[in-house]
Amino acid sequence: MTTIRNEMQWIDAGPLEAIPSPGARRLPSAHGDIAVVRTGSGAVYAIDDRCPHKGGPLSQGMVFGERVQCPLHGLVIDLPTGFAVGPDTGAVSTYPVRVADGRILVGLLPQTASAACGGGCACAQAA
Ligand code: FES
Repeated sequence: MTTIRNEMQWIDAGPLEAIPSPGARRLPSAHGDIAVVRTGSGAVYAIDDRCPHKGGPLSQGMVFGERVQCPLHGLVIDLPTGFAVGPDTGAVSTYPVRVADGRILVGLLPQTASAACGGGCACAQAA
């Protein structure tokens, strides 16, 4: 019997004050690049740094409200859900974020757990 460990791994995305409010930064990870986004209200989100349209870098997009606009062709992503805002379609994965001692931490599940989910979990629905 194979046991799948599903423990969250928190990676340090740097100090909170390093990201303008609003603004975003690219965070390389084992899951690929992640866009760490800080809104004007101070909320922090982490999403895949790859636009579902043609792969544009969302970390270089314009942040407004709870959304980020892709710098290449303008697709808008809702940060809390990762879904494109209509009439556009598509989605990116979202990652849990917490701030501890002034540093941003992004939660990642081990890739083996993600690959083994079988498509029924939230990560597959957002992909
Ligand atoms: S690559 Fe993002 S809108 Fe085209």
